[in-house]
Amino acid sequence: MRAAPAHDDALLVHPAALRGEVVVPGDKSLSHRSLLFAALAAGRSELDGLLQGGDAAATVGVLRALGVDVFDSHGRWTVEGGGPDALREPAAVLDCVRSGTTMRLLAGLLAGLPVTATLSGDPQLLGRPMRRIIEPLRQMGVRFLGRASDAFAPFTMRGPRADGRALRSIDYQSPVASAQVKSAILLAGLHADGVTTVREPGLSRDHSERMLLALGAPIRIIGERSGRFVVQTNALARPLDPIVGRIPGDPSSAAFPLAAAAMQPGAEVVVRDVALNPTRVAFLDVLRAAGAEVEVVQTRDFCGEPVGDIAVRGRALRAFEVGAAQVPALIDEIPVLAVVAAMAEGVSAFRDAAELRVKETDRIATTAAGLAALGAAVTPTDDGMVVQGRAGRPFVAAPVQSFGDHRIAMAMAVAVTCADGPVRIAAAGCSADSFPGFAETLAALGVEATWITDREAAC
Ligand code: S3P
Repeated sequence: MRAAPAHDDALLVHPAALRGEVVVPGDKSLSHRSLLFAALAAGRSELDGLLQGGDAAATVGVLRALGVDVFDSHGRWTVEGGGPDALREPAAVLDCVRSGTTMRLLAGLLAGLPVTATLSGDPQLLGRPMRRIIEPLRQMGVRFLGRASDAFAPFTMRGPRADGRALRSIDYQSPVASAQVKSAILLAGLHADGVTTVREPGLSRDHSERMLLALGAPIRIIGERSGRFVVQTNALARPLDPIVGRIPGDPSSAAFPLAAAAMQPGAEVVVRDVALNPTRVAFLDVLRAAGAEVEVVQTRDFCGEPVGDIAVRGRALRAFEVGAAQVPALIDEIPVLAVVAAMAEGVSAFRDAAELRVKETDRIATTAAGLAALGAAVTPTDDGMVVQGRAGRPFVAAPVQSFGDHRIAMAMAVAVTCADGPVRIAAAGCSADSFPGFAETLAALGVEATWITDREAAC
């Protein structure tokens, strides 16, 4: 088998109706959290199914720099947890590569430790907003010095415990429904001097609270109060329990083959052993509303999270609308749902999704540009887009860009399965940030998909 693609490799995809059964790599959000929470646990954690490489590698790297023993033996990851007090002050800059989840959750974890640390990463990550975590953590007593008046990384942080003071608990109203912001504050709250409360305007993915609760943390999921979703924590009275288990597949990765199946009558894809957390699978409701046949069966649990199989059968689809109520639970799936909208009959609209503008790329702009290159009519708006459906008429085969964004690369590959000829997607190797083996998964479902290196492309 060919080695993993380089970030800049192109992917040549041929049109096809997908059929078959696959598993997808471990969930990105659960992989980051399993590693970080295992480092706070007392004892050995053993994790199967961890996202290999990609963004999870950034979290492995920063944990090693904090002195945590993390190693891989034939796909089983072991984390030797010594409790929070075993984490060491890092001797060098902590490189979060392109992973926003690593940087923001790590800042929350470090806030409660008696250390000074500098967090940095690749240029793509250095362009993403950091004030959203710096502001609440500063209210808790953490000192920050960051680029552009604390708007962006790199930043240096020093928790109050480094100066012999306690971390203050806060009651924080988050202006955005962001699991990364919520998780950073909760992780800090595990070391604060009282009850820490986070209130968010919509329910963002709730993995941190489910998992921390399952691992023995004093978290309380309060639920909706006056239009805000509320979670509280006290300080840890004892280290977390270690984790032993298999991380389920990533529903955001499963969304690509499932969406490709939804668009073509006769296509059928089953993805086995996927995370089914309701804050992650709202894209299935959209596929159903568009007319696709969707079946979900729960088979097991992982750390307070439901896990199971998803089957999607394709139909001729109709237009749909996505707004504030669903956006936090399908934010990462909007690029591929825009592709689905472009194949449906009628005009679809995405609203209240301005957060898309601060992901790995401005995903409103990059989704619209990609679809326009394939002949679709998409009008970007401030907080979403309006998509004119083609009622099943194939996309026009023409070269497209990933803009270095893994989800745009894969959304474009899904579109090409419904194009009138093969298409070369430039710099699609970034798909490995969340979905190593993406081309192999497409191949297993009957899609011809081949990596082309820069050098080969020049020939
Ligand atoms: C994530 C939260 C989301 C999501 C990202 C992963 C997480 O970001 O887009 O891919 O694991 O907490 P926000 O918290 O910025 O919404």
